[in-house]
Amino acid sequence: MKKLGTKIIGKQILTYTSLPSTNDMAKQLAVEGAAEGTVVVAETQTAGKGRQGRNWVSPVGQGLWMSVILRPTLKVVDTPLVALAAAVAVERAITRVSGVQAGIKWPNDLVVDGKKLAGILVEMQATNAKVKYMILGVGTNLVFNQSDLPVELADKITSLQAAGGGLISREEYLMVLLEELDKVYLQLSAGEFELVLQAWRQKTITLGNKIRAEGPTQLIYGMATDIDRTGALLVTTEDGKQVKILSGDVTVRAVDGKYC
Ligand code: BTN
Repeated sequence: MKKLGTKIIGKQILTYTSLPSTNDMAKQLAVEGAAEGTVVVAETQTAGKGRQGRNWVSPVGQGLWMSVILRPTLKVVDTPLVALAAAVAVERAITRVSGVQAGIKWPNDLVVDGKKLAGILVEMQATNAKVKYMILGVGTNLVFNQSDLPVELADKITSLQAAGGGLISREEYLMVLLEELDKVYLQLSAGEFELVLQAWRQKTITLGNKIRAEGPTQLIYGMATDIDRTGALLVTTEDGKQVKILSGDVTVRAVDGKYC
């Protein structure tokens, strides 16, 4: 296997046959003092976690389920940039290994034709405005059997193989992903925030489109215009108001008028 040429990420790679969640294992290791850049990979997760408290289906042999321990020196207010930077890295890794052109759906989903190819879950522990550790979890569907997916997900999810990228090995994709994550993480660590934001803007499918944002208490329709330093989505609503969306589910209006 090719030697991994990274500075921080992947100095130690721990692989498991099965874990409840690689994020949870990485968190446990981080608490025990594991070094920054430690990577945890599992062939399958029995309780894979998605954003907004959802499950992440992680069947054996069908994707790369992995987490990285980070100990950034970033201010807590700047930490949302880690997830945005990770989305940029995942997009680049996907293109490098397979040629598949995925788009970033705010904040950090990787999608092809409206279907999800990869997702990112960042968890953080901070005290007194200082980050103790961040866990960056990335799940990428490489190939899947439709039969392993819950019925309600079957038309919402795709894989690299289903998107025309061929059969990519987990090992090959892992190496490329770690290299790309390392590059953007070094940029963030050097304070090059605008470079990361620009890269995100170039690959997003959300900006410049009509969106529907469903938050815990409200539903907003409008035009997504930009993101700010905190990762918030800036939207001009249908009645002309400027609003910031900090979290929640955003769907993008497709040409047929459907939101996906
Ligand atoms: C999302 O909802 O889009 C985020 C999905 C993140 C899934 C990955 S798989 C590896 C890591 N471990 C987890 O439990 N979740 C993340």
